[in-house]
Amino acid sequence: AMRNELNAMIQGIDDPDFKKAFEAEMQSFFILFNRYLAERAKGQKIDWDKIQPPSPEQVVPYSDLPESSNKGELLNKLAVLKLNGGLGTTMGCVGPKSIIEVREGMTFLDLSVRQIEHLNSAHNVNVPFILMNSFNTDDDTARIIQKYANHRIELMTFNQSRYPRVNKETLLPTPKSAVEDKGAWYPPGHGDLFDAIMNSGLVDKLLASGKEYLFVSNVDNLGAVVDTRILEHMHSSGAEFLMEVTDKTKADVKGGTLINYEGNVRLLEIAQVPNDHVEDFKSVRKFKIFNTNNLWINLRAIKRIMENDGMDLEIIVNHKQSDKGEAVIQLETAVGAAIKHFNNAHGINVPRSRFLPVKSCSDLLLITSDLYQLEHGQLRMNPSRMFQSTPVVKLGDHFKKVSAFQKRFKTIPSLLELDHLTVAGDVSFGRAVTLRGTVIIVANDGQRIELPDGTTLENKLVSGHLKL
Ligand code: UTP
Repeated sequence: AMRNELNAMIQGIDDPDFKKAFEAEMQSFFILFNRYLAERAKGQKIDWDKIQPPSPEQVVPYSDLPESSNKGELLNKLAVLKLNGGLGTTMGCVGPKSIIEVREGMTFLDLSVRQIEHLNSAHNVNVPFILMNSFNTDDDTARIIQKYANHRIELMTFNQSRYPRVNKETLLPTPKSAVEDKGAWYPPGHGDLFDAIMNSGLVDKLLASGKEYLFVSNVDNLGAVVDTRILEHMHSSGAEFLMEVTDKTKADVKGGTLINYEGNVRLLEIAQVPNDHVEDFKSVRKFKIFNTNNLWINLRAIKRIMENDGMDLEIIVNHKQSDKGEAVIQLETAVGAAIKHFNNAHGINVPRSRFLPVKSCSDLLLITSDLYQLEHGQLRMNPSRMFQSTPVVKLGDHFKKVSAFQKRFKTIPSLLELDHLTVAGDVSFGRAVTLRGTVIIVANDGQRIELPDGTTLENKLVSGHLKL
């Protein structure tokens, strides 16, 4: 039935080029869908008892890596790719997350471009900058990057696949025609990178221009800058795939982890964990590291694998509700799961500073504050901060959307000496506020707290009506 519906959509297209591309996309989708049905019938597939912690060779400490002696030569073989297919819905923004302004009027995209421009000029090299967009992010991204047309940076974009959402009950595609509006489709996760980059012809193009390595990261991770020690290790170890992992803290319960599974290194995502082992998975003791999604991949190996067996990435079933209230599923994959297909693939345990994601407005507060300084698009911890750790910040629901966040802070407070901040309820901050130690601000229902300009709070609990 699925096949018939897909065929009907293909037949309904007049434009031959669009028809060909759409047909190829639906073919990949159909393969994924069939794998889903087969796996669903088989039931549980990961055998929990076979999961071992990674061996020492499977996760190398970053501090063991020597600096490169021929940076320029290696950098000229590198291309940098940002995963830019996702929307900033969790932060209440309608467009791509990458166009949120994060610092000094610059967006994630602007900062990433700055980083690459600096890299290229500092080493006199030509590292191209690639964006993997989706049908959700392509238009807005194109508008933002127009301004780089005259810059000395080679900027390339391609679109990932667009797959049909599937009705949970009938297992039929939600869209009835190839041109049905956006809500009926979804970008199938960043594991789609391999299909999408091959289909775009970009792998061949990069190889032809002498590129060998691809550094992939999430567009909201401003800590994911090019590191020549890792690049050197990629070269000297001959590894075809490196995953940057970092030490897990109690706050990082969701991220995937590397495991040793029957002697092979594999990514284990929470979606694959049997229900009765979820607590084990979250434990910091058992699984000490997690995936930052900073990945170094050999381009020739991508081509080889894709032209032979293809990537068999674990399916993540994402349950959603359509605009019409219908229960739908989206079959997605994660790029890190590809690690099992590459020769000599392993993890590098990197410092936490290489993982600086912005998942919420609490994260946004940290990176816009004086805790960091901006250098060539890169955020560095302010040397005046006495401890290396970042404060724990919990902003309540009133700060969920970026627009609300911007309204509630007249200027971003000084956080240099902050350890912990919790804000709940209808709270707003005046200009030049300083927060130190542990600060808790709670406005109960119907109450409103406005911190006056210039307020300093040190180890304070503020609740109800403001008394300082
Ligand atoms: P995700 O949404 O997969 O991970 O995006 P996350 O940010 O850890 O998840 P949340 O915030 O908890 O929901 C990671 C990166 O992958 C891109 C996103 O744009 C982001 O940079 N991405 C995600 C794609 O490029 N395509 C996709 O289909 C999904």
